[in-house]
Parts: sequence; C-alpha cells; structure tokens
Amino acid sequence: METRHVRLLDTTLRDGEQTPGVALKPSDKLNIALKLEELGVDSIEAGFPIVSDGEFKAVKSIAREINNSEIIALSRTRRDDIDRVIDADVKAVHIFIATSDIHMRYKLRMSREEVIKAAVDAVSYAKSHGLTVEFSAEDATRSDLNFLARVFQEVVNAGADRLDVADTVGIMWPGKIASLVRFIRESVKGNYLLSVHCHDDFGMAVANSVAAIEAGADQAHGTINGVGERAGNAALEEIAAAVRFLLNYNVRIRFEKIKETSDLVSRLFRIPVPPNKAIVGANAFSHESGIHVHGVLSNPLTYEPISPENVGMSRRIVVGKHSGKHSVIYILRSMGIEPSDEIVNRILRRIKEMGDKGLRVSEEDIRRIIMETLG
Ligand code: KIV
Ligand code: ZN
Repeated sequence: METRHVRLLDTTLRDGEQTPGVALKPSDKLNIALKLEELGVDSIEAGFPIVSDGEFKAVKSIAREINNSEIIALSRTRRDDIDRVIDADVKAVHIFIATSDIHMRYKLRMSREEVIKAAVDAVSYAKSHGLTVEFSAEDATRSDLNFLARVFQEVVNAGADRLDVADTVGIMWPGKIASLVRFIRESVKGNYLLSVHCHDDFGMAVANSVAAIEAGADQAHGTINGVGERAGNAALEEIAAAVRFLLNYNVRIRFEKIKETSDLVSRLFRIPVPPNKAIVGANAFSHESGIHVHGVLSNPLTYEPISPENVGMSRRIVVGKHSGKHSVIYILRSMGIEPSDEIVNRILRRIKEMGDKGLRVSEEDIRRIIMETLG
C-alpha cells in the first residue's frame, strides 16, 4: 500500500467566506475552525487579517484556540499585511501575488520585475520574522510558464517553504494541470512543498486537484462543500476521499467527522448541500431502483464505490415508483415482519401508485401503507 502523505489546506474560512453574500461572525469562524481541527486538516486558512478588525480578532482567536492544525492567514506582498498576520499571533503566512500578464497589467499595474521584487521582499520579510511561508502565484495557470517558474525559483531562494499554483479562474483540466505540476517540479530547484488551489468554474476543481496530486503535488487547497468565489473551490471532502480511496495515499482526515463538518458549514454559511453532492449529499449513499437495491442488499459494493461508513455516512433504501420487492422485504424485515409474497406485492402496488401520481413516498407514507395493508 502507498504510504505517501498528502497535505490538505482548508480555506473554508478565507476563500470559502468570499462566497458572494456570505459573512461569518468571529464566533462562527471559531466554531468552524474547531470542527476542522477535529476533522484533521493539516492547515486551516483562518482569514485575511488586514480586511477588518472583526476578521483580525477572529483569526487571532482561532490561532489561540487551535493546537492540532497549522493556522495560516492570507497576506498580499505588503509588509503591513504581514505585520497584521504576525500581530494576530499566526505562525504561517499565505502570501500571494498575481503572475499572469492580464492581472499584472490591468489589476496590479506592475511590471514582471516589480512583481518579482515585491514577492521576494514579502517572503524575505516574513521569513525574517520566523513565519512559515506559503507563496501563491495567483492566476498561475494563465501565466507565462517561464515567468511563473522564475517567480517560484526566486521566492524559494528567499526562503518560501511551500509554493502554490492557483487556478484562480478554474481553467485547468486534469491532464493540463498534471503537466504543469511536472513542469514546476522540473524547473524549480530547492526544498519546497508544492500545492495546488483549484476553482470550479468548469466543474473540474476536484478532478484537477487529484490529478495534480497524482502528478506529484504535495498539498491541495479546498473548502468544505466546495464553497467559495463564483462556482466555488475544490470540495475538500471530495479531494480527501478520492486521494484516500482511489489513489491510496494517506491523508490526516478523520473521515467519520466529514458529515458533521459539512452540516456545520452548510448551516453557518446558509448554503444547503445539494442532495446529489458527492460524499456528503443526502443521496450519495441512497438507493431506490429495484435493480440497485437488490444488488446493494446482496453486496453493497455492487452499487457503492466505498462503504458509507468510510466517510461517516449511512446507507438509505428509499422507496418510490422505481422500487422492487427487495426494498419492501428489506423494510418489513427491519420492522421484524416476515412478509408473504402477497403482502409484498400489495404494498409495492400502492407505492407505485403514489409514484405514478408524481408523489414522493415518505417514511411516514410507507409506515401507513404497511399498517393499512397488514390491517
Ligand atoms: O484563487 C486564488 O487565486 C486565491 C489566491 C489568494 C491564492 O484564492
Ligand atoms: Zn481562490
């Protein structure tokens, strides 16, 4: 079995909080941070301390309360931003600057040389204060590759501990980000961990993160439930599950905590989890159609790639118009009733009648139909 360890940096409290319309109270941020620590993420990006007094206080309280995950905070390549991180008692800083021509020209209004100078100055300053430094090249995936490699090399020479390739507008696909990771590995010399930060604009953030890891990245950024700017970030719980159960690499995640973490983030962000969402959606381990239920009841792996218990979920057998007799027998047996064929068929007929009228068959409906059928 592969024993490679993959780091996960959770940015629910920073990039996730940049979800349009979301603002968390400091106490909410702390509650989520405590849950992320229990979940076992390697690193918690707690926020962007320069943004506001409330944000600064929230980051500081998270840094005080969390002991078992690294706390990291965001900073531009400005010394006053880094000072704010230091004042918040945070020991790791995530310094970023854009490296794509479009960002440098229209947003930063800086030349390539100025960007390198700002990046090196910020990294050296943070290192001189004893911080762990993760350096992100924002919009890395639309940057000139030789320039990107040069920026990365310069910040590694200045002491950066980790490099992060940000797919800021989510334009990567798995094969492309895998080549990019290999290119950075070959071009940038020194002692650093390589990370990726993928956005989901084309629905490929998780696939891209996993492909990058397979190609040699040491770490991926993600957010719980994939919350974040625009279409969101890579869903951390999905990356963790794919890395652990498909690639067979180790992650520090306590999978049994995933569901409660997802529920907490959904509640405090006021963003419901879609039922068909991978890993944590209500339907992720639910089965209705007769053929599937028959298979799953004989051997769950017929229609489940992993056991729901592996990720803190449970299996649900749902009845409706597509159900077969195995579902009805299963439900009756779980109620301690050994049914005859005739009873099963009568119950099934009534379930299908409801389904044909476009009605959802709830657990209460089932109980009522069973009671009425059994007299
Ligand atoms: O998407 C992005 O580029 C970011 C950076 C701050 C890393 O979130
Ligand atoms: Zn981002």
